[in-house]
Amino acid sequence: MRILEKISALPFSNLHKLVPEGINGSFGRPALKEAFKNDFYIGAALSLDQILGKEPKSLEVVEKHFNSITPENILKWEEVHPELDRYNFEPVDRFVALGEKNKMHIIGHTLVWHLQTPDWVFQDQAGNPLNREALLERMKDHIFTIVGRYKGRIHGWDVVNEAVSDDGQLRKSKWFEILGEDFIIKAFEFAHQADPDAELYYNEYDYEIQPKCEGVIRLIKTLKSKDVHLDGVGIQGHWFKDWPPIGDIENYILPLSKLNIDLMITELDVSALPFYAVDSQVVDISSFNAELQKKHNPYPDALPDSVQTELANRYAELFSMFLKHRDKISRVTFWAVHDKQSWRNYVPIRGRTDHPMLFDRNCKPKPALNAIIKAANAGK
Ligand code: G3I
Repeated sequence: MRILEKISALPFSNLHKLVPEGINGSFGRPALKEAFKNDFYIGAALSLDQILGKEPKSLEVVEKHFNSITPENILKWEEVHPELDRYNFEPVDRFVALGEKNKMHIIGHTLVWHLQTPDWVFQDQAGNPLNREALLERMKDHIFTIVGRYKGRIHGWDVVNEAVSDDGQLRKSKWFEILGEDFIIKAFEFAHQADPDAELYYNEYDYEIQPKCEGVIRLIKTLKSKDVHLDGVGIQGHWFKDWPPIGDIENYILPLSKLNIDLMITELDVSALPFYAVDSQVVDISSFNAELQKKHNPYPDALPDSVQTELANRYAELFSMFLKHRDKISRVTFWAVHDKQSWRNYVPIRGRTDHPMLFDRNCKPKPALNAIIKAANAGK
């Protein structure tokens, strides 16, 4: 059933009109998922605490505004499969149950990545690097166990995450060192065998770097030429108020969309802080002198109205562009529910106070929320 029929079939269209103001003042407003029900899914990444019900205000926002959820960390190898013979499924079971209770489009993130993957994965009992067969068997076991457990319940998977470097070559990860390019093909093969009905995605960031974008396009063409089951490509979208220019994003959305796959904005957040490359070496703000601390952490208490307006205009601009390409984009997922949760507070500069999301640290909607809904209405 085409995505749009699924979304508009969901039973909550007019509910909010019947319910009085909620504790975080968002119930009177149109819901994000309602505003885009004929365009694309609207999702959010959930933290462990939110999944365990430790943030009721966050869950109210999630159930009100979003019709898709992604786990921020609990399905990453080190979290869900910390030891060879030990899986940690309890939080994932709760995540999937939360999604099913709200009839949401549930995403799995991520099966094969160079980060948050324990060293033991690549070593034998004696600590020596595994050979090709042994590592393939270990990857297969991991994917079959996890994708198999949530077969028919997790609708789409980020099978491989961030495997292309800025020069467009494949990242020299431990997966690549032992398995070569095959690790990507095999990961998709195993995931498709484990759940033939699940959508399978390749997920990446910094497509603005031309050689990297060309490298991803080459990779997708290679996978397609080998009949690898691939449904979509994720554009993470870790952006800034003034970077990248909208035109630069469109400059890669168009060629990517020519690959006959769905495009998704999978990890959207717009930092309110000055530009600082996201994959820089992680440092602590206290290691900067006072002047640089002021420059890189200018809003430790609250975001000035003028910057709230800049952020709102930026989000409106982005969503107007997403709507323009609604025929290519099937989902837009925010990489947190609220400002306090966002990784932009601690990566790449630890100890900062960023304000990148639509909801503030008390789950109160920010002007950016209204700006996006206005963009939706304008796009109708
Ligand atoms: O789970 C441990 C906890 O046991 C320990 O007490 C705590 C103390 O340090 O650390 C916790 O692990 C943290 C983990 O998040 C779970 O909260 C890690 O230190 C921390 O590094 C990790 O950060 C995550 C980061 O990926 C790791 O690379 C961020 O929350 C998460 O937002 C971020 O998400 C990635 C996407 O998966 C892929 N694309 C980029 C995006 C941003 O880096």
